[in-house]
Amino acid sequence: MLREPNRGSQFGWASPGCGVDVALTCGVSLRYGAWVGGSDDGRLVGSGIPDTAWVAAHPERFGLELAGPPPSRRGDEQGEGGAPGAVEGARLGGVAVHEIAEVAGTPTYVYDAEGIRQRLARLRSALGAGKGGVPDPLICFAVKANSALAVLRVLAREGAGADIVSGGELRRALEAGIAPQRIVFSGVGKTDTEIDAAIAAGIRSINIESAEELQRVMARATAADRSVPVSLRLNPDVDPETHPYLATGLRQSKFGVPMVAAVELALRAHRHPNLRLVGLACHIGSQIVDAAPYRESVMHMRRTIGSLRDAGVTLAQIDLGGGLGVAYRPGEPEIDIAAWGRAVRVETDDLGLQLVVEPGRWLVAECGLLLTRVIGRKRGEGAAFVIVDAAMNDLLRPALYEAYHPIVPAHHVDPGASLTIVDVVGPVCESGDFLALGRAMPAVEAGDLLMVLDAGAYGMVMASTYNARPLPAEVLVDQGRWAVTRPRKTTEQLLGDEALPPWLR
Ligand SMILES: Cc1ncc(COP(=O)(O)O)c(C=O)c1O
Repeated sequence: MLREPNRGSQFGWASPGCGVDVALTCGVSLRYGAWVGGSDDGRLVGSGIPDTAWVAAHPERFGLELAGPPPSRRGDEQGEGGAPGAVEGARLGGVAVHEIAEVAGTPTYVYDAEGIRQRLARLRSALGAGKGGVPDPLICFAVKANSALAVLRVLAREGAGADIVSGGELRRALEAGIAPQRIVFSGVGKTDTEIDAAIAAGIRSINIESAEELQRVMARATAADRSVPVSLRLNPDVDPETHPYLATGLRQSKFGVPMVAAVELALRAHRHPNLRLVGLACHIGSQIVDAAPYRESVMHMRRTIGSLRDAGVTLAQIDLGGGLGVAYRPGEPEIDIAAWGRAVRVETDDLGLQLVVEPGRWLVAECGLLLTRVIGRKRGEGAAFVIVDAAMNDLLRPALYEAYHPIVPAHHVDPGASLTIVDVVGPVCESGDFLALGRAMPAVEAGDLLMVLDAGAYGMVMASTYNARPLPAEVLVDQGRWAVTRPRKTTEQLLGDEALPPWLR
């Protein structure tokens, strides 16, 4: 992770790396291609490949087509302007992002439907088909990562299922057309109302997270006089080696049933006349880049499955949760999806159970970007700022996890352009309001359109109206077509959502 620059001093530099020396700006010397920045006392504060270079080298990785230089700068004999009406700048899913920004305004999330379909297909192929009469693995998209109705509809049309954690997500998944038999319900705090809604919808499995919750599901199932399919979500105490906020399968985390209690609770569920124990589940964390923690989880789950078999209980499915990691910056490790698929099949095939997985981030993170416009620039004593119209209320991940999102201009950037170290910040009144710290960026100015990339997961779903800012708009692009799928609300509409108490009117 890029450490925050020492704001008290100017940056020096040291890099025998490749490329051409470029301008000294803000006390920073950079080489295009790779850069290292340090403070005057020689401490390293950041290094890496600039986002512009990464994106220019691999536009397909981001689903982008990048604009070439404007005709005038190509030495075009026809002169300036290009095709009449042509929009210069990047395209996502065949649609010019400048056009989207003109119509929908900024900040706006843009999702690429075809990108999502392709990732779903890759995951399916990595997991392979069911063997020996066992149904094919089921991919239940973790709706928490992106609950946009349009995104869910794309996945529903491809036959994906859903992993939900609330009644709201259940309603959205059903509205999008996801079949109830493909919906699993996780979460430590399901209310009776939510359990009732899940029972009424006839979902595939309520994944039970505690003895107390089992008791409540029993009561609700009895009241409904239904036979309700349930799984037990286990806490296998496996370290996924990820950000502490993203680990969910450790002994001390609030999720899942401790392994020592698993068999007893599973038998209680199995014996209840209104419950059907269909499987075991786990979800050990997010941003996992190695198959090993999954293997370890299966190893623990196998013991419980074995004990249940000895007690005459046969299950139908094993749910390994989500957590597949993506690389948000060049060189960062990411899961090798084909190798992971092979590994989990090797570990689980002999069980004869249907495999269920609940990926969120891996399916959508790279298929979404946040469009934002530069409001202005500012030079502080210890840092230079690019102030944009997207803020922590629109994309919380940088402030919450110090998460990295590549940020590049939507217009063409000359590969030889000078880069400066800047903080990209929003207008919200919090020091934690930043989209990037100490980032090497080409010069931008007020009005320029920027793309905050890899923002398709855990972006809009965490957005708020903090500072009385409306939520971002949302757009879906699909092979040259596009539509605003969630218009930005006006302040008047937001005010209309509230009421004054009668005695204060
Ligand atoms: C139960 C459960 N399943 C799946 C996921 C999806 O995780 P990811 O987006 O990392 O794949 C989560 C995320 O927190 C989760 O809690």
